[in-house]
Amino acid sequence: MIIKILGASAGGGFPQWNCNCKNCANVRAGKPGFTARTQSSLAISADGKAWVLLNTSPDLRQQINDNPELGARAEDGHRNTPIKAAILTNGDVDHVVGLVNLREAQPLKVYGSSRVLDTLADNSIFNVLNLDNVERRELTMDTPTEIEGVDGSTGITIEAFDVPGKVALYLEKKDAGPSFGTQKGDTIGLKISSSAGKTFFYVPGCAEIDPPLAARIKGAALIFFDGTLYTNEEMLKQGLMPKTGERMGHMSMSGPDGSIAAFSDLDVARRVYVHINNSNPVLDENSEARKAVEAAGWDVGYDGMEINL
Ligand code: MLT
Ligand code: MN
Ligand code: ZN
Repeated sequence: MIIKILGASAGGGFPQWNCNCKNCANVRAGKPGFTARTQSSLAISADGKAWVLLNTSPDLRQQINDNPELGARAEDGHRNTPIKAAILTNGDVDHVVGLVNLREAQPLKVYGSSRVLDTLADNSIFNVLNLDNVERRELTMDTPTEIEGVDGSTGITIEAFDVPGKVALYLEKKDAGPSFGTQKGDTIGLKISSSAGKTFFYVPGCAEIDPPLAARIKGAALIFFDGTLYTNEEMLKQGLMPKTGERMGHMSMSGPDGSIAAFSDLDVARRVYVHINNSNPVLDENSEARKAVEAAGWDVGYDGMEINL
């Protein structure tokens, strides 16, 4: 199975259009040690021909152009695509808006939880993906689903599962207490298997590794995990936004409640951070934070990173 990071950044990208934090200013200025990243998405393929997108970011058009294996093929007629399906892990802008790039009557299948499919159904702009060509299929949690393209199986099977998280920002119910109206299915993780029997996990948003999640991922060969923030209060401390990671539904990398600590006894062979916010000090390749996560055995994901399982 080929796994490619199309975009390793969180919502907003790196640099973010309106952000002048230290990281964004440095990457914009081309300072060595800072590498731009597009918004959160992976592409996977069991055979190198049919591709499945894991989330569709607002940068998808650029990502397809940057990764020629995702572009239309010269030998396949006037209109074609190797992208056969897209799987959505939540309703975040950075994960669903890229769907509108996949219009032009191109047949495709879109998979998500009922909560996320309801969000698409409630937003008529997504009807540019003509429902006659683009079938939306619900992922039943905790049940392996063979991912079909338009012309048969992609050779990929996905088991989706609920993870602790928060409903998308634009769907928050302000009067619903600290959960903001979050329900099951608002944030899911994916266990992805190829027909050749290789398996990895993709959890780009996660508020906490609770015992069921820990049990599920223990001993895995590979995970791509929520790398939004290094510390819970970094956006406040940098004067960017009065929100903690906790408030956004993202656990931090560092600290006693962080992902580095949580994974320390889970025996996950390879761990890659994705959905990295532009405020995160690990984006400075010479920072102490970057050294600390690498010393703990983590990779900081980057656009174009490819892993073959
Ligand atoms: C998130 O990951 O928390 C969201 O993408 C934030 C946002 O919608 O701006
Ligand atoms: Mn996001
Ligand atoms: Zn920034």
